[in-house]
Amino acid sequence: MGNLILRNITKCYHKTEVLKRVDVDVANGEFVVIVGPSGCGKSTLLRIIAGLENQTSGEVIIGDKDVSLLAPAHRGIAMVFQSYALYPHLTVEGNMTLGLRQAREPAKIIADRVAEATRILELEPYLKRKPGQLSGGQRQRVAIGRAITRHPQVFLFDEPLSNLDAALRNQVRVEIADLHRRLGTTMIYVTHDQVEAMTLADRIVVMDAGIIQQIGTPSALYRQPANLFVAGFIGTPKINLLTGHMANARIDIDAIGVLSTKPAGKGPVTVGIRPADFIINADPRDDSAFSGKVIGTEYLGNVTYIRVLLGNGQTVVVEEKPDHLWQHDQPVYLGVNMANVHVFDGAGIRLDLNKTTVTD
Ligand SMILES: Nc1ncnc2c1ncn2[C@@H]1O[C@H](COP(=O)(O)OP(=O)(O)OP(=O)(O)O)[C@@H](O)[C@H]1O
Ligand SMILES: [Mg+2]
Repeated sequence: MGNLILRNITKCYHKTEVLKRVDVDVANGEFVVIVGPSGCGKSTLLRIIAGLENQTSGEVIIGDKDVSLLAPAHRGIAMVFQSYALYPHLTVEGNMTLGLRQAREPAKIIADRVAEATRILELEPYLKRKPGQLSGGQRQRVAIGRAITRHPQVFLFDEPLSNLDAALRNQVRVEIADLHRRLGTTMIYVTHDQVEAMTLADRIVVMDAGIIQQIGTPSALYRQPANLFVAGFIGTPKINLLTGHMANARIDIDAIGVLSTKPAGKGPVTVGIRPADFIINADPRDDSAFSGKVIGTEYLGNVTYIRVLLGNGQTVVVEEKPDHLWQHDQPVYLGVNMANVHVFDGAGIRLDLNKTTVTD
């Protein structure tokens, strides 16, 4: 069973705590992506799972066994690094077999495992080449192949696509998704790219400053972000955030207008509106529409992103169908799809508009 439990993991370097009470429970076969900004502790957490780093406190449990004190080779994991970490003097085949040879596996097993990885990743043409004779994408496939030969209970990936160009990144990303479907092995994947996280994960762990902000499916994080950090991190283009004050089933957005809401108490709030949840019009269609003017457009073929400067000096991004040509400086009015609006209290925590009470 390749399930993984991280129980109350903390990590301190000198006096700085870089991981704070991290609890994660990964089911056997699950694909979990750990995402967060640079320096938030993702690699440190992955290296602790691998046994390349010791946690200051807490436990790592893999396949129902506490592996906290075991060396990396005995944890049932295989790790793929951003930098590939291949031996330049060994061939592709030599790189893929090295770990098994060092572990003194029988020749038959080594041959079978290499054949399997070669077939899955279509590495046959490259087996006799050295890493220096391969493209970045091919090198990363070799590194993944080497991980496959170990038959791990859990695969660990640390930003495996970061050194690849955009087209190759998409291709290898699809290959990793296919690999997971085919092998059904538990995968833990670290990235700072929320698009990679959204497209690959069964569940995403969002981290900031060593603290887990939210764990959930991609759609749960998108539709119900637990706090302002998650709302701002998940979704492209970014969610628009407007500050205001809630009272009497209304939210007064500072200096630009009013939104009607369910009665949910009162107090300072931040309203999150995704670009697709604005409705843009050339005329005011209702009293609550915010007025502004177009200051830029980005035409992408299937959609257009329109930057609108509001009366309070804030710019918001609106997603629209590409049919209409919006002129620079054109006055516009923005309605809001209230069903999809996110409201956060003064501390940045999501409010459930159906039951929460906020106070000043
Ligand atoms: N050996 C070390 N000694 C002291 N501080 C360290 C050490 N290794 C990492 N850190 C610190 O721990 C924090 C987390 O680092 P980590 O490498 O886990 O971040 P990350 O989320 O992987 O970032 P990135 O996206 O840039 O790879 C950082 O603030 C980093 O400076
Ligand atoms: Mg890192």
